[in-house]
Amino acid sequence: MERLPGFRDFYPEPLPHPDVWSADARQYIFDKWRMVARRYGFREYDGPPLEPLELYTLKSGAEIVGQLYNFVDKGERSISLRPEMTPTLARMVAAHERNYKKPIKWFALPQLFRYERQQKGRLREHFQLNADVIGETDTAADSELLGLLIDTLRAFGLTAEDFVIRLSSRNAWQEFFQQRGGKPEDAYNFYQAVDKLERETPEESRKKFSAVGISFDEVNDFIKGGKPTAELQAVVDNLTARGLAAFVKIDYQVIRGLAYYTGVVFEAFDKKGEFRAIAGGGRYDNLIKLISGGKVNLPALGFGMGDVVLLELLKQRGLLPKFDSQIQTFCLIEDETLRPASLAFIQQLRDAGQAVEYALTPAKSDKQFKRAMELKAQWTVKLEKTPEGALSAKWKNLATREEKTISPPGLP
Ligand code: HAM
Repeated sequence: MERLPGFRDFYPEPLPHPDVWSADARQYIFDKWRMVARRYGFREYDGPPLEPLELYTLKSGAEIVGQLYNFVDKGERSISLRPEMTPTLARMVAAHERNYKKPIKWFALPQLFRYERQQKGRLREHFQLNADVIGETDTAADSELLGLLIDTLRAFGLTAEDFVIRLSSRNAWQEFFQQRGGKPEDAYNFYQAVDKLERETPEESRKKFSAVGISFDEVNDFIKGGKPTAELQAVVDNLTARGLAAFVKIDYQVIRGLAYYTGVVFEAFDKKGEFRAIAGGGRYDNLIKLISGGKVNLPALGFGMGDVVLLELLKQRGLLPKFDSQIQTFCLIEDETLRPASLAFIQQLRDAGQAVEYALTPAKSDKQFKRAMELKAQWTVKLEKTPEGALSAKWKNLATREEKTISPPGLP
């Protein structure tokens, strides 16, 4: 039985086949994501992996709606696996925001599902670090979020040589569009044309811009000019004060595909341009109002960082650690009459928080020792009995070869 295309099997290391993914690497990524988010004062939340279809058809934009894993359930409800976390977060915040002091700073590590064509960096299932700030209009919040994004990537050993965050603004583009007489009903198509600029031929783009009455040359001049708006300058100044300015650049080519963004938007890319976006996000000041049917109106901003591109990049740069079994002690049972006493001792070590392994059934001592080496255990320990019947534990440090006998049995 084969797994579905675009889905992954995660195996413990060492990996049995190049086609499978590392459960250890995934845990490594999750641990770092959690560590840095908490360092910035973000709290973890989660929501259901299935949501009413309507949550996404409301505002996410045609692209993501076309990629939904949706179906009708046994109760005749139209539902969908979540393709992103932001609508769920908006729904959750709208329901209980009064119980939380603003700004709300929350993060989640959801698994997301998008029915898209499988390609490099794009699968039908992925995990994302989502970090969002709710209830703050000041650009200080945008800067704080960018600080978190930068520090998350730095926590993996990536530097300003490896990645850059391309900063842009929907406000800047909206102003550009309005000044040139763009009609509000064409705005979404205009943003889509900007979003596709890097992936389409100039002829295709020229056609799309002329369809909404905008000159392709003026669009290109605006991007080339790259003049920061006051709002973007404030963000850059804030990051400069933190010593993080080298990680960002103004780049109006970025506008984001999702429909709900309203202000500052950004995407993180590897500097060599070999991979797809590592992360993307921005402000979405109207989404909570829309999802709550006008009941709750709170400004919001956030980003999503996927595990797929990040892992490809870390692998390529040799930034993943070696993943061992993390066994500290291997208990050798060479004398089967001592098995009950050994089990009691193993229990004592595990109660003390040690990771302990041993042979479940009688085995030759060299086989047990070989297993301890394979597991890269730090210590072996063996119970011994004196002729008078007193028990002792004989410890051996496998790295230093140092030996210690502890009587009665205890930690070395
Ligand atoms: P997004 O740009 O659609 O934004 O996704 C964010 C990141 O998730 C991407 O940069 C990419 O690394 C990863 N990603 C997206 N789709 C796939 C896929 N099919 N396979 C592998 N990785 C993928 C959002 O989802 C927004 N909801 C982020 C956000 C949070 N905005 C505000 N708050």
